[in-house]
Amino acid sequence: MSYRVLVTDKLAEEGLELLRAEPGLEVVVNTKLDPKALREALKEADGIVIRSGTQLTAEVLQDQTRLKVIVRAGVGVDNIDVPAATRQGIVVMNTPGGNTVSTAEHTMALMLALSRNVAQANDSLKAGRWDRNKFTGTQLGGKTLGIVGLGRVGLAVAKRAQGFDMKVVGFDPFLSAERAAELGIESISPLDDLWGRCDYITVHTPLSAETRNLIGPNELAKMKPNVRIINCARGGLIDEAALAEALTAGKIAGAAVDAFDPEPPPADNPLVTHPQVLVTPHLGASTEEAQVSVAVEAARLLSDFFQSGQIRFA
Ligand code: MLT
Repeated sequence: MSYRVLVTDKLAEEGLELLRAEPGLEVVVNTKLDPKALREALKEADGIVIRSGTQLTAEVLQDQTRLKVIVRAGVGVDNIDVPAATRQGIVVMNTPGGNTVSTAEHTMALMLALSRNVAQANDSLKAGRWDRNKFTGTQLGGKTLGIVGLGRVGLAVAKRAQGFDMKVVGFDPFLSAERAAELGIESISPLDDLWGRCDYITVHTPLSAETRNLIGPNELAKMKPNVRIINCARGGLIDEAALAEALTAGKIAGAAVDAFDPEPPPADNPLVTHPQVLVTPHLGASTEEAQVSVAVEAARLLSDFFQSGQIRFA
């Protein structure tokens, strides 16, 4: 039996090699499909491997009778209409572990860069200025970091922030206060009580109907004026217009944003050009190590599925 697997986002070569070496698998890589072409290509595919660049909407998935499995190389499955896939008996799997360290490190990188005006100081010095006073920053040590979502990445951020002598508080309905305390984290519930406590806030939840706009005008209004917000998770978690407005009005001090809604952000996205916002183009998982790890894990999930019907859930 031979199966055709479509790969529609950039996947590390190590993962592609594993897939190509698998007897009975034909691998087709095409990262340039528009939704219509993707729908057509899926009619000839038994499996698909994606990252965050491919949108598997209900329309794209409708009547895909040949497709059996979707593997998301990465953690977030918000670019897949999972209920639509499930209705048609298409299995959806992801690789949640491989990105954790890289995403946590990028969160710390943004938190530090934001606090010390690294991007602005770099631009200024390269433009020929020696402006030391303008870029006085703030230190992390002694500050309170609020983490919304204490899953793999949130906990990895907590550990690193503790290494910087930050006090870590957090909210996660799936982590008990006792377990959080064992990890040196003060559990805060309800979430509304977290906003006013923090000097830094970072979000690490999946994007769902419940978490969309979890930070909006009301939450921003409750924060301290010195707060700095970091989003290395999903754009839709924070109301982008409200965040830009709060920054412009001086209600909060700064933000670092790696994830946008939609991606890539349109030219008029209020955060990209905002002087108090540090931006990166969804680089949280973009390290050599993380990309190899998620690609290899994705290839294994797919091979096991076609070889023995094995389904692994995170
Ligand atoms: C993920 O969900 O795994 C990360 O956001 C990285 C990615 O989308 O590739």
